[in-house]
Amino acid sequence: MNQFTRREFIKQMGFVLPLSLLSGALTACRSNTASTTSHLETTALSNQKTAAARVREFQLSAAITPVDLGTGQFKAWVYNGLPVGPEIRVTEGEILRVVLTNNLPEPTTIHWHGVPVPNAMDGVPDMPLPPVQPGETFTYEFAARPAGVYWYHPHLGYQLDQGLVGPLIIESKQAAGNYDREYTLVLDDWATIDGGGPAATERRPVGMMGGGMMGGESRSPTANEPLTEPVYHAFTVNGQVAEAASPFIIKQGERIHLRVINAAAATTFGLRLAGHALTITHADGRPVEPLTVDVLRMGMGERYDVEFMADNSGRWSLYAMLADLPAPIDLATFLYAGVVSTQKNGDSLSSNLLWNSYDRLTGLPEEAFPSVASTQPDQTFDLILSGGMMSPAWTINDKIYPDTDDLVIELGQRIRLNYFNHSPMPHPMHLHGHFFEVAGSPGLRKDTVIVEAHMGQLSIEFVADNPGHWMHHCHHLYHMEAGMMNVVQIS
Ligand code: C2O
Ligand code: CU
Repeated sequence: MNQFTRREFIKQMGFVLPLSLLSGALTACRSNTASTTSHLETTALSNQKTAAARVREFQLSAAITPVDLGTGQFKAWVYNGLPVGPEIRVTEGEILRVVLTNNLPEPTTIHWHGVPVPNAMDGVPDMPLPPVQPGETFTYEFAARPAGVYWYHPHLGYQLDQGLVGPLIIESKQAAGNYDREYTLVLDDWATIDGGGPAATERRPVGMMGGGMMGGESRSPTANEPLTEPVYHAFTVNGQVAEAASPFIIKQGERIHLRVINAAAATTFGLRLAGHALTITHADGRPVEPLTVDVLRMGMGERYDVEFMADNSGRWSLYAMLADLPAPIDLATFLYAGVVSTQKNGDSLSSNLLWNSYDRLTGLPEEAFPSVASTQPDQTFDLILSGGMMSPAWTINDKIYPDTDDLVIELGQRIRLNYFNHSPMPHPMHLHGHFFEVAGSPGLRKDTVIVEAHMGQLSIEFVADNPGHWMHHCHHLYHMEAGMMNVVQIS
């Protein structure tokens, strides 16, 4: 079953490419096949009291490669020649080893978004390791845990928005989930021009970010100001626009599990699968009490696992409502096996659509995460997020990275961050090296959390149990590059 689904996943990605280009995907695919038997192997090994964890090795090559999302060819910065890097799938407790070869004209790194890796494997330039130079190879290696849905991307410049993203799934050691079929969906936004996001293309005017005029005149950024995000040309699932992609096939009566990753640089998606409600089972890979929603809102960097019963046969659109766009965008097609109609079914929307919100999510207890909510924090930091009005700079407590204040923390301390959003845009804030709890949402653990626009307030708490210097930033790439970032020092 698993094997079938994954092979189909590769097919779903819809690439007709020479085998050499697919080698990365095939590596992942073959390893995945092996991973379905690894439960047995692991048991056998532990029965023999052999302590050594299994090592799983993957090869990634970053290079400028022509890609076609279904809108015409252009040169993107991608892994293994694919518009979305190959899915890396391992089992919790295995050692993940990824050999990165940098064939780009610039230094690069890989950051394993969400995985609490040791500091040296976190892929942030010079924190503490230097980036991987052009022509060089670097081997990332760390224990794959905890189970969950993650993704990987560089932590340098605008490379994430040039195409360098990929999914990382750490499967649970326990029995597989109670579903019949699963798909991984990587959402992305693209400027479909050579070089991608930072290349010369139409940009959002300063003072008009988020779709509205923010008081006064809007204007174009000047040459020595940070870039604002491009006006994107394409929105993709697994590297293909809806019109070009083959549909996700499902069968009547199946329970379908989707692992959805928002790998976009600057787009918050409101996802809707026509004809179906979606039940959230995990937020950023951590299990939650099931919550059924009509629309799934996802900030940049967030992941949600959702399930639905295939009980409404037809050809259905997965589409997105975007904050700035009047009309929804078609992202993908879900097709029930046997349906011959080429027409998509119309969605029947009630006037009262239920969206997800953090205060409706409750985390399920996990052994690895003792609750922190009941005790007092050792240190509290107030962080005012602002910017976006008169200049393209984005700030934390009125400072721009690297002039922002480091948060200096002792190892083991319980920390509270209070966010205050004084800006007209939502900010998906991300902390490296840790999961945190979202205040007001019992037991909800995440690594990326949206702080809503226009005076939005939110608090998070975490135990600083992973020593090192960690980035903490808005995952809107153009906000991060324009200053909304600081360093969390834990020692
Ligand atoms: Cu997804 Cu600092 O990163
Ligand atoms: Cu932001």
